[in-house]
Amino acid sequence: MDRSSIGSQGLFIAFEGLDGCGKTTQAKLLIQYLLQRNIPHRHVREPGGTEVGDKIRQLLLSPETRLNTWGEAMLYATARAQLVQDVISPSLAKGEVVVCDRYLFSSLAYQGYGLGLDVELVRTINMKAVGGLIPHISFLLDIPVETWSQRQSSKQHLDRIERRDADYYQRVRDGYQKLAREHGLVVLNGQHSEQKLYSQILEKIEAYIKGGRYN
Ligand code: TYD
Repeated sequence: MDRSSIGSQGLFIAFEGLDGCGKTTQAKLLIQYLLQRNIPHRHVREPGGTEVGDKIRQLLLSPETRLNTWGEAMLYATARAQLVQDVISPSLAKGEVVVCDRYLFSSLAYQGYGLGLDVELVRTINMKAVGGLIPHISFLLDIPVETWSQRQSSKQHLDRIERRDADYYQRVRDGYQKLAREHGLVVLNGQHSEQKLYSQILEKIEAYIKGGRYN
């Protein structure tokens, strides 16, 4: 990938998966790659990335917060809408590469499938909130719930979502796999080494750009 291969409408890449799947590491590696090549980019994570989004993040993740299921889904959608309006859309309009650590599929998996909300309604609300903007490529770093559990056990502090049990995370994983089949997410085995995943990700992005499948 070089500067000239990024189209005039930028390139929007999202990383999805269970907590501890390695998506944050891969997003950071991709950012390093873009930096080394002087490719203009933005790195964002959800929820957050705007003033209101950071406040919503605190509320959503604090174990002290008591929130009903639709309230949770709405707050994620609110933070996302602000991030799209203030950061993602302007960045794409400048032709930049946007690397997003989680996006809309997180809400469909965690709130829709995980909490048992009407997935179509969660999708409709979110699509409305983001003006229909979806990533050019979404990577799903897939791990079994056993791996999630092992990786969580080494964490000192668990947030409000991470305190949910294995049954919840199983529904989220199954939901992600269903979404991947329906919406063409690129599924990678999150149990592979960091280096292997990184090269698979670069390969996909470069093939995608060469195929002219965006813009
Ligand atoms: P994340 O920042 O990925 O967690 P961490 O940096 O601690 O690994 O995401 C925060 C939590 O929010 C995570 O448990 C997943 C959850 N989440 C949802 O439930 N729905 C959503 O739409 C998003 C974006 C995140």
